[in-house]
Amino acid sequence: MARDWLNIVDKSIIVTGGASGIGLHIVQELVKNGSKVTIADISVEDGEKDGIYYVKTDITSVESIQRMVDLVVERFGRIDVLVNNAGINAPRLLVDFYSNERKYEIDEGIFDKMVNVNQKGVVFTTQAVVRTMLENKVRGIIINISSESGMEGSVGQSLYSATKGAVNSYTRSWAKELGKHGIRVVGVAPGINEKTGLTTPEYNEALAYTRNIPVEDLDKGYEKSIPLGRVGKLDDIANLVAFLASERSDYITGTTINISGGKSRG
Ligand SMILES: NC(=O)c1ccc[n+]([C@@H]2O[C@H](COP(=O)([O-])OP(=O)(O)OC[C@H]3O[C@@H](n4cnc5c(N)ncnc54)[C@H](O)[C@@H]3O)[C@@H](O)[C@H]2O)c1
Repeated sequence: MARDWLNIVDKSIIVTGGASGIGLHIVQELVKNGSKVTIADISVEDGEKDGIYYVKTDITSVESIQRMVDLVVERFGRIDVLVNNAGINAPRLLVDFYSNERKYEIDEGIFDKMVNVNQKGVVFTTQAVVRTMLENKVRGIIINISSESGMEGSVGQSLYSATKGAVNSYTRSWAKELGKHGIRVVGVAPGINEKTGLTTPEYNEALAYTRNIPVEDLDKGYEKSIPLGRVGKLDDIANLVAFLASERSDYITGTTINISGGKSRG
């Protein structure tokens, strides 16, 4: 009989933002491998469907996070893996030098929103989950979905890339804090990928504006900027996350893995 290489059957895994895009592909890959997956997402209703547990969660609210974590522990008895995937992006320039309307300029509202979801959400979800791991003596794994821009910076995306840079920093520090408890903390930094819920017409319009190019040109030039000559598949990312959620990656912690087809400047 062929062996089960990943061996993540029955692991209790939470994927925040698992209802769409990258998160949904991660969920599907984990379910295929037999894990007990919870989708913690602001856009779902509580319930169970097709073997997936759904808990409506707003990761900007500590109360909402705690409710979700309590429900998951009540149902599955423990949490083995947390995938901090929920995130938002809204391109903005530091100074909108293309018009006087300051339409796509950083303001307090967008700063607070982006930091609340991408940074505060990651901190307090991880805190609540790690408490349960310590209580139950689980050698758990935290997987933070970052972005290549968090390592390299990106025109029109300084706010977003800064929140992801912060996430990379949490990854490094938490790995140092939690290593002695057998808990690993790893980052995954995707580059340019197949479309997701994040790539809305408003997002494309804002990104094109901040780069001073027509919207139609946004998808041009990948052959040159991505050494492997194609955008990332959402399943490419899901495969990496499944590997990191398994004991096959048992000696990886405190680092963020770039998954961008070799692209490194954007
Ligand atoms: N799409 C890309 O090319 C790309 C590239 C690099 C990194 N990323 C990162 O990957 C992650 C997933 O992005 P995606 O492109 O799949 O986006 P997406 O918009 O398709 O999915 C994000 C999910 O997060 C949920 N969400 C948003 N705010 C939430 C909140 N406050 N509480 C709980 N859930 C919330 C949404 O409902 C949605 O289901 C993000 O962290 C993003 O920054 C994406």
